[in-house]
Amino acid sequence: MSPPGRPKGECLSVQREGRPILPPGRFITFEGIDGAGKSTQLGFIEQALRDAGIDLVRTREPGGTPLAETLRELILGTPMQPDTETLLVFAARAEHLATVIRPALAQGRWVLCDRFTDATYAYQAGGRQLSEARIAALEAWVHPDLQPDLTFLVDVPPAVAAQRLAAVRTADRFEAETLGFFTRVRALYLQRAQTQPERFVVLDGTGAIESLRGQIAAQVRLALQRWHG
Ligand SMILES: Nc1ncnc2c1ncn2[C@@H]1O[C@H](COP(=O)(O)OP(=O)(O)OP(=O)(O)O)[C@@H](O)[C@H]1O
Ligand SMILES: [Mg+2]
Repeated sequence: MSPPGRPKGECLSVQREGRPILPPGRFITFEGIDGAGKSTQLGFIEQALRDAGIDLVRTREPGGTPLAETLRELILGTPMQPDTETLLVFAARAEHLATVIRPALAQGRWVLCDRFTDATYAYQAGGRQLSEARIAALEAWVHPDLQPDLTFLVDVPPAVAAQRLAAVRTADRFEAETLGFFTRVRALYLQRAQTQPERFVVLDGTGAIESLRGQIAAQVRLALQRWHG
């Protein structure tokens, strides 16, 4: 994407009064039920952006720091109350935001994150049926000022996702949940996408991997034009 003769990435920097001004780092998240195809598509986007000279951090939630990864193991592996689970997810998120996401964005780096707070609404409010107000209160505490710039929701029926995962690995505490649970998670994701259309791009995750890859690449090109002209 760089014009010929320029080093990669230079096309994204802006000059003002002779000084290069870094364009702001962008925060892109991938959402969807377990097995929807998030990690597959994230890998493609990561490569495409790196090829375009964009300096980025790829990370995931829960997790992304040593402490948050330890919390992830607990969250995915230990039976616990829905309130405990939600609080641990936000504890991991606070650590991740403070030590990885915010510093990267402040340096003008892009952050590609496999799940973020939309997943907490979908899983803990949708799936576990906690009140959305509880999640909103924690969101207002932990990141009142920050939302993803762009969120891809890879949407698939729970039965399709379950079939994909069964073929590749043993289920964790969430993946072992019922189709009813994932039907509620999916519905909450779709509801959020509908109420925040400026941020969400919903993709039909039942399509072929290559077709989804093309759709996401096109959306990222559009976003780049919007953000950097
Ligand atoms: N569009 C697709 N069509 C068919 N199979 C797919 C598609 N996308 C991904 N898969 C396959 O489905 C499985 C799950 O994909 P992937 O790991 O990307 O999902 P995920 O959403 O990241 O899951 P998790 O939430 O559990 O991390 C993988 O074996 C992957 O190759
Ligand atoms: Mg994944």
